[in-house]
Amino acid sequence: MIKTMHIVLQLSLLALVLSVAPARATSLSIASGIPEGLVNYLLPRFTLKTQIRFDRLPRDGDLQFRKDSGEFGVAIFQLNDGSIGYLHAARWLQDDADYLHFRDWLLSEAGRATISDYREQGVAIAIPVDLAPVEEVAIVITGNADVGRTLSLAHCSRCHKVDRAAKYSGMDSSPSFHAMRGFEDWYVRFLSFYAVSPHKALITVEGSGIEKDPDLITIAPIELRIEQVNDIVAFVHTLEPLDLGRPIQFNP
Ligand code: HEC
Repeated sequence: MIKTMHIVLQLSLLALVLSVAPARATSLSIASGIPEGLVNYLLPRFTLKTQIRFDRLPRDGDLQFRKDSGEFGVAIFQLNDGSIGYLHAARWLQDDADYLHFRDWLLSEAGRATISDYREQGVAIAIPVDLAPVEEVAIVITGNADVGRTLSLAHCSRCHKVDRAAKYSGMDSSPSFHAMRGFEDWYVRFLSFYAVSPHKALITVEGSGIEKDPDLITIAPIELRIEQVNDIVAFVHTLEPLDLGRPIQFNP
């Protein structure tokens, strides 16, 4: 009898624990160098407006305020020493509604005013980043688009859909060239793709100054020259960008 009660008690405790365990919330951490007081000032004001809250972690949050832009960092504020504070979201959070809400709020009039309002010992320590268009890059096409097309079909179509006509090329995890051509910064991305994952492991560009890590196993390495990168850029330039008015389709 006592034993049964014991089990029942344990089960009901378990049920209680399960029922109060909150749904997993997005976590947030603040890297060193970022003034915690500023973030602590911003967060409750954001939460008040949106009811969205983030779990604070000492480090390695899904969202991070950091001083380096990392792969996905969005510049949010500039500190008095000129350094920039970035909001960085994990790759899998890029389309997350809470993250996008937070990012957009930080960049909105309200968020920017909140950043400017914050004081430490009576002194403003950060200003919102200038929202002027992110460094206009002059697009200079020096390569040969036909050569670039051949190179792209030879080397990139393994993973990317390069040519709309080639219906079944590419893998779903790699964006199509047309989709990427629709990005505002397509030019920069295509000039530097070999420096980012997953290309880093398999593509070397002679003269780029970036060495391939010999520890990374490569199946069939791709070796290019800088001129060939320019040819690929010239080819991508000729592609019709996807309509940006529609939600981005990954592999159309
Ligand atoms: C082994 C498969 C693979 C090959 C081969 C490959 N890519 Fe990619 N590429 C990817 C994947 C996967 C992504 C998406 C990465 C991500 O979302 O972070 C990507 C992303 C890109 C991007 C966007 C990078 C950015 O900054 O967001 C560009 C540009 C690009 N590839 C160009 C190329 C070109 C040009 C070639 C051929 C010379 C090529 N890729 C070959 C898999 C590949």
